[in-house]
Amino acid sequence: MSLNNNLNKILIIDFGSQFTQLIARRIREAGVYSEIVSHNKINLKLEKKKIKGIILSGGPLNVYQSKKVKFNKQIFNWNIPILGICFGHQIISKELGGMVKKAKHREFGLAKLKKINSSKLTHNFFDKKGFNNVWMSHADEVSKLAKGFRVMAKTETSKYSIVENSKKKFYGIQFHPEVTHTDKGKIILKNFIFSICKVKKNWSPKYQKQLLIQEIKRNVKSSKVICALSGGVDSSVVAKLIHKAVGNQLTCIFVNTGLLRKNEEAQVLNTFKKKFKINLIYVDAKNLFFNKLKNISDPEKKRKIIGNLFIKIFEKHAKRIKNVKYLAQGTLYPDLIESKSVTGSQTSKIKSHHNVGGLPKKMRLKLVEPLRLLFKDEARNLGLELKLPKEIVLRHPFPGPGLAIRMPGKITKEKVKILKDADYIFINALREHNLYGKIWQAYAALLPVKTVGVMGDNRTYDYMCLLRAITSEDGMTADTFDFKKEFMQLVSNKIINNIKGINRVVYDVTSKPPSTIELE
Ligand code: XMP
Repeated sequence: MSLNNNLNKILIIDFGSQFTQLIARRIREAGVYSEIVSHNKINLKLEKKKIKGIILSGGPLNVYQSKKVKFNKQIFNWNIPILGICFGHQIISKELGGMVKKAKHREFGLAKLKKINSSKLTHNFFDKKGFNNVWMSHADEVSKLAKGFRVMAKTETSKYSIVENSKKKFYGIQFHPEVTHTDKGKIILKNFIFSICKVKKNWSPKYQKQLLIQEIKRNVKSSKVICALSGGVDSSVVAKLIHKAVGNQLTCIFVNTGLLRKNEEAQVLNTFKKKFKINLIYVDAKNLFFNKLKNISDPEKKRKIIGNLFIKIFEKHAKRIKNVKYLAQGTLYPDLIESKSVTGSQTSKIKSHHNVGGLPKKMRLKLVEPLRLLFKDEARNLGLELKLPKEIVLRHPFPGPGLAIRMPGKITKEKVKILKDADYIFINALREHNLYGKIWQAYAALLPVKTVGVMGDNRTYDYMCLLRAITSEDGMTADTFDFKKEFMQLVSNKIINNIKGINRVVYDVTSKPPSTIELE
């Protein structure tokens, strides 16, 4: 997010935590503008007047790694409330005269926090008996309080879990209020921003839209932009946002792989070309994809073929547009969260992100990724603000390789037709029974086994359809959705009675992990 000097803000100083963006997102959710800066980039030039509170994030470092833990210590003299979270709590204690050492009992996961003293920060946070479940992730701990600080809460193994210097309005908490595992964690953040920093609400998807449009205009200027439009939420929001910012300088390329959900291509064309009048190149590549995927069963080979073909087609059509300088992508924050730090602070590398829509560097186009700091539901809210149809904005995620990875074994036109129809029936039934919005992702898959059935008085020997429906926060972990037996039977009957080629329906009850959401 670019700096906005007109709005009061909460400044988040990032020390490389995996959760820094989550803190920013919680503040935004509460209706207040926030900005993140890396600890090694913060300087005195910041517009101090607009900063109403500072949050120091967690991070993988140790507070005594002084060369790596550079930050502007002047913030302690700014007379602005400061909240330190985890590492941030430790650095406040260390800098102000306390001590931090390796914890005797490291705390990872849930811990029971006990109230010791009342605080503005914890108003309405503890239960009647003075307890709350919080989520911890630390190996170091504060071992001696800094001068002027009092302990407000502790756990069984950590005696300084919440500390404060109420005169200076400095607060330190060892747990993570920003993660959902901490009960009522949002209350801590709201108490900090509203009761302690006294900021007024000034943030909404409308502001976000305006700020992003300004940012795109400023960066793109009069250059041309291309965007690979998949019809999914993220690329749709990006296309609409960029179109709002630079109008006809944007051209979208939509590739019909033949492996999309039923009627998807018609919907995308109708929305973007007819309704929004966005420049759109429609590429019908169904036959090309089928030919290249003929006789391929290996999941990784399927993914590679689809990815490469997509890039080739995209490049071919992009080259025909003159003076293109930018490539727009719908990258979201969770796509980046595990691969690199967004602010430039040192995060622990967990895995490198891969995406089938990832286009080759040799195209030498600059990236425009306006959603890079947003989570999925924030992108959805932005989509609604941009007046995209609800069917697109609230639609379940769909993988780049499409139905190819929901059809283990060889891909044939017959199987694709059967699968599209089965999926259509399942998804429509979810909508009709008001279940669609309660589920993070649902789909039908076609298993490469035939089993015996009896219909009328005749023997059948047909495919098996697998249904999957999961709940999740971000797709990294997932639980299966509990359907009533009557609903499952209704869907099963509808599929078998209406689709020739399926005579058995099964429901996948595996969570992720150990399974993945997709079959391949
Ligand atoms: P898995 O199967 O890995 O899926 O548990 C997690 C989420 O990611 C989606 N997915 C993909 N999305 N390109 C994408 O754009 C891909 O290659 C891809 N593979 C899986 C999947 O649908 C689920 O939402």
